[in-house]
Amino acid sequence: MSKFSPVIAARAVWQMRVRKRPFVLSHAVNSRCNMSCSFCEYWKEQGGEMALDDIFRMLDDASSFGIGVYNAWTVEPLLREDLPQILAYAKSKGMITSLITNGKLLKERANDFHDLDYLSVSVDGTKSYKEIRGMDFEVLLDAIMAVKDKLKNPLLMNCVISGKNLDDIEELIQLARDIDVKISFEPLYEFSGIKDNVWDSMGIRDVGKYHSTIDRIIEMKKEGYPIINSFTYLEMIRELKKGYNCHVNNLILNVTADGSIEHCRVHREKMGNVKDGIVNVWNASKDRQNTLAKNCEGCFFFGYVENSLMYDLNLEVMQHYEWM
Ligand SMILES: C[S@@+](CC[C@H](N)C(=O)[O-])C[C@H]1O[C@@H](n2cnc3c(N)ncnc32)[C@H](O)[C@@H]1O
Repeated sequence: MSKFSPVIAARAVWQMRVRKRPFVLSHAVNSRCNMSCSFCEYWKEQGGEMALDDIFRMLDDASSFGIGVYNAWTVEPLLREDLPQILAYAKSKGMITSLITNGKLLKERANDFHDLDYLSVSVDGTKSYKEIRGMDFEVLLDAIMAVKDKLKNPLLMNCVISGKNLDDIEELIQLARDIDVKISFEPLYEFSGIKDNVWDSMGIRDVGKYHSTIDRIIEMKKEGYPIINSFTYLEMIRELKKGYNCHVNNLILNVTADGSIEHCRVHREKMGNVKDGIVNVWNASKDRQNTLAKNCEGCFFFGYVENSLMYDLNLEVMQHYEWM
């Protein structure tokens, strides 16, 4: 269950259920990456990047719109020198702050998280990590150890399950418990814009092994390991069958590096730009966004699925998914 204060929880309910507006702003705070993971499409798009003043203006506007969470999501937030100022500004607007990083610069930026509430690090394996991410696992682990006790909340390791790392999952969960961090899982999404040979090598093809891996994750969650996903979500990804109504547009406002507002990370249709005013873009795109969400065949990104299930007041998810 989330450790949200009652005030934040009430603001979130007011914004999402009553005003029917998103509460989270997910921002491509830069457009560059220092890794080139084959399965990720974001680093391949070199686009413009918002100036610091434009980001401050966006945060002012987002705050008036009712946004309560600022998430520096992509491409690689730690490459942005002025990140501490951005986080401080979001905090000054009363927002919760979070970010996800590949961890390559984690150690050298360990003192830049003063205004960060939640830190996620992509950890896609142990033995397979180097092949997937191109960096030594020991280097990443050393950086996680250097930073984890400086944070306000437990660090979250996020693992994308693929055909490459099924043998590492149990070890990774044990590691999370041993070093006192949390862990989340989501399956690889096979984006259509990436060449098939990537999916042939990384995709989940051994279904039997995948099923037994997810079964083990479920067992370990029951045993008390620090896995933040709900059982509903884990059972859904075992079958890879959509079992939720998507509410992504009522939960998350997706802003790209050049300030475009996109429907979501799968349907990247542009709705406008933050320069036009968030409320204007929001009002003009509401119907289109509802149609896209309603007709979507689904993805398994845990932030979308778990929060959509929470939006629909799924009791198990409310009880067992730890929002971070
Ligand atoms: C796009 S990355 C940006 C943040 C940072 N550079 C990182 O690597 O964590 C955000 C998240 O998307 C995940 N991701 C990228 N491509 C994916 C795919 N094809 N399927 C599932 N998750 C993916 C990454 O593993 C990471 O957890």
